[in-house]
Amino acid sequence: MNTHLKENISSKFLKKYKSKPKLVFSPGRINLIGEHTDYNDGFVFPAAIDKSIITAIDISDTNYCSVYAYDKKEEYQFNLDSVEAIPNGGWRNYVLGVISEIQKKGIGLSPFNIVFGGDIPGGAGLSSSAALENGIVFGLNEVFKLDLTKEEMIFISQKAEHNFVGVKCGIMDQYASMFGLKNHFLHLDCRTIEAKPYQIDLKGYELLLINTNVKHKLSDSAYNNRRSVCENVSALLHKKALRDVTEKELHVLKNKISKKDYQKALYVIQEIERTQKAAEAIENGDIKKLGQLIYKSHAGLQHQYKVSCDELDFLVDKAKESNVVIGSRMMGGGFGGCTINLIEKDQIENFSSVIEKAYKEKFNNECSIYQVNISDGTHIIK
Ligand code: GLA
Repeated sequence: MNTHLKENISSKFLKKYKSKPKLVFSPGRINLIGEHTDYNDGFVFPAAIDKSIITAIDISDTNYCSVYAYDKKEEYQFNLDSVEAIPNGGWRNYVLGVISEIQKKGIGLSPFNIVFGGDIPGGAGLSSSAALENGIVFGLNEVFKLDLTKEEMIFISQKAEHNFVGVKCGIMDQYASMFGLKNHFLHLDCRTIEAKPYQIDLKGYELLLINTNVKHKLSDSAYNNRRSVCENVSALLHKKALRDVTEKELHVLKNKISKKDYQKALYVIQEIERTQKAAEAIENGDIKKLGQLIYKSHAGLQHQYKVSCDELDFLVDKAKESNVVIGSRMMGGGFGGCTINLIEKDQIENFSSVIEKAYKEKFNNECSIYQVNISDGTHIIK
């Protein structure tokens, strides 16, 4: 954990609100494979990371709530009896969304103060939003002794995103952030919300994230749009979700839906299968096979599901050319953010400098390279 960050947040709180807060660590996440499968009741393979949002929280003796975003140096004050989404409200809507979902459960809250801040790069596809939502709900649960289970909390976070932010996200990010386990990836069944933890021996390979540092516009509407395509296709086949559809069953619709929608649904069915094969490959210690599945996942996201972009494709192509990266793909919702790469450990430095130079030449923009550690999920810190 970033102790510097923790100290900054806690001393800011003390200075601003003059009380000693509870501190919540809430991590971002990465995802090995299984992209855009969570809202299709499929499988995903995420892990929580050691980049996080730290939330300092305590009860307030005023009659309003006050939330301070440390990184943006912005403060927002509001009353609990008028919690509504704010048009273009940015971070405020994540906070308000969580409060509103708690209130919808009939749970009464009283005024509180919050300072939050973090080191998860925004727009990188590392789920800083889920980390923030989970940090807020976890903190409120702690301070007001609400007795919410972790599972209830992740659904509150998810609904906050649906109803206040407007992204109809699946459950992967909130789950991984809340239930993360140090040094383990979570093979999560998004229908049953049960996960099998895997401690992966990468055998001389490492994971490396490369951030394009771009986030293309309209990615939220493109996301919601993909989700409704998937739901329409499964409804046409009288199935609950694409999880329940085989390639053969989908084929029946070949001439009844657009080619584009057909490819999207096919991608999801194939990605769910790849995620299952990835678990098998890991169990068999076959890291090369895992890498191949990761490359295939990107091809599907690029050509069939169409959520990639030039910058991401460039990074994946360069990885392929390098011969030292055995798997690379875009990660998260898409249209920017990071690629995740499985790379020979002793080639990280060389490859990083080659890719930084090539990216700069091509896009006249810097990419950022991170190595992350796999961490525990949302919890109280001292
Ligand atoms: C975003 C969403 C997740 C998931 C991914 C794509 O991160 O929040 O629920 O759908 O995109 O896999």
